Amino acid sequence: MDTYDPSALRPRLPSPLEAVADERFARRGLTLLLKRDDLIHPDLPGNKWRKLALNLRAAAGRPVLTFGGAYSNHLRATAAAGRLLGFPTIGIVRGDELAGRPLNPSLARCAADGMRLEFATRSAYRAKHEPEVLAGFLERAPEGTYVVPEGGSNALAAQGCAALGGELSGRADVAAVACGTGGTLAGLAAGFDGRTLGVPVLRGGFLGGEVRALQEAAFGGPRGDWRLDERFHCGGYGRTTPELDAFAQDFEARHGLAIERLYVAKMLLALVSLAEEGAFPSGTRIAAVVTGARDQSVSSR
Ligand SMILES: Cc1ncc(COP(=O)(O)O)c(C=O)c1O
Repeated sequence: MDTYDPSALRPRLPSPLEAVADERFARRGLTLLLKRDDLIHPDLPGNKWRKLALNLRAAAGRPVLTFGGAYSNHLRATAAAGRLLGFPTIGIVRGDELAGRPLNPSLARCAADGMRLEFATRSAYRAKHEPEVLAGFLERAPEGTYVVPEGGSNALAAQGCAALGGELSGRADVAAVACGTGGTLAGLAAGFDGRTLGVPVLRGGFLGGEVRALQEAAFGGPRGDWRLDERFHCGGYGRTTPELDAFAQDFEARHGLAIERLYVAKMLLALVSLAEEGAFPSGTRIAAVVTGARDQSVSSR
């Protein structure tokens, strides 16, 4: 094992799968299971370890450059991995208006973990995949820097998330996951022998194409039985509604588990709504993937 092997971080894998008693499911003959990926690692919780592990192995200790918004969980996880495994990290942050202002708690944590932050204009950030824009970022980075895309979603990330599907195979009939960039869903569906439900937290209806492209890149074509339910974004990325918050507080009171609001709560709301609509036949075992932990100190975008 080399020093940059992320398994040196001793991730808790397979993550626990816990049955929870919830009458909204039980009265329809359904079993709700929580797939506790939030317990994989305190600094790389949820899908972060699964998406980064193969990328960090490929980077093999070279500096890692990646992208995110001012509250990005992915930036925080990458910075923490750099500190723990000992490689340099560079974070390209959306919005040059943030430069020169005090760092918010999320970015302050990235900086404390040694990440070099660079604030990009919104237009440069949008164009970050264009070769000349990317070349501009890389010019200011050390030679040999390894690039991980926004949200950490690329072919290696999807391949890493296939193990999540493997852990659920034979133990659940439906797996539900919240989606941002779609990498977690692409891998989960590929590795799972049941049906996968993706719940986009962004508006826009573009995610299906992204998931297909990621599966093409990671596995050479479509994999698994998956679909999206686009009704539960609650206003879009980073947004919540009073109803979502009330729903999450009620779920927390019922089950004694702090619920991350911007992804996990929306996925759970989708599952409860679908159960109430009669969308699942009696006897279905439903695994809700807890892709993130609720961070009490930092908003979790
Ligand atoms: C807590 C949480 N859940 C789900 C997701 C969505 O993952 P993906 O971008 O792979 O769709 C993210 C973003 O990475 C996240 O931070």
